[in-house]
Amino acid sequence: MTGKNSSEYHETVISVASPNRRADADDIADLLRLEKECFTGYYEPHRYDREQFLHYLDNPKSILLVANHHDHTAGYILGISSKRGERTGAYIHSIAVEKGSRRAGLGETLLGGFLDEAARRSCAFASLEVAAENRAGVRLFEKFGFSKTRDLPDYYGEGHSGVRMSKLL
Ligand SMILES: CC(C)(COP(=O)(O)OP(=O)(O)OC[C@H]1O[C@@H](n2cnc3c(N)ncnc32)[C@H](O)[C@@H]1OP(=O)(O)O)[C@@H](O)C(=O)NCCC(=O)NCCS
Repeated sequence: MTGKNSSEYHETVISVASPNRRADADDIADLLRLEKECFTGYYEPHRYDREQFLHYLDNPKSILLVANHHDHTAGYILGISSKRGERTGAYIHSIAVEKGSRRAGLGETLLGGFLDEAARRSCAFASLEVAAENRAGVRLFEKFGFSKTRDLPDYYGEGHSGVRMSKLL
């Protein structure tokens, strides 16, 4: 927390139009499965574990959505809304869709749901870091109007640079 009374924030997680839905503690096993499948190689040290997901679920500033596909949990997006200085921003910490469900629009649905909730919380901007070599991730964010605001050399380990991308809401 940032010293603010939690009552000024909205509920921890949100419910938006299908196929997104709010996540709860029963989703942890699926979230961990997605971490293991989707974040390999240079991303592996950045995977979230059970305690971290539970921490997010307890934090009223969190936005944590899961998407269903063919009757199972196939993707999620996670981030927080946070006031820094005068402005409230939405910080996307992770998005993942299982391999077998990709290119079906789930990433777009999750990101759209996240940004809708960020706007509802009066966030002035959204921001994230992604590996520069992650073509799918970078293209997804560009499609939503994000643009590069900073290069982050070796952010994901030696030779694996990141980029910060932002968008005004
Ligand atoms: C990035 C990721 C979430 C995209 O999920 P997805 O459900 O396949 O995305 P969508 O089907 O909604 O695609 C939306 C847009 O993203 C971009 N995109 C997605 N996959 C792409 C690929 N393999 N190559 C290029 N662009 C891609 C395209 O712009 C696409 O729009 P289009 O279909 O009109 O071309 C998914 O590839 C993933 O989980 N990757 C591993 C985890 C990761 O890298 N997360 C991002 C960093 S935190």
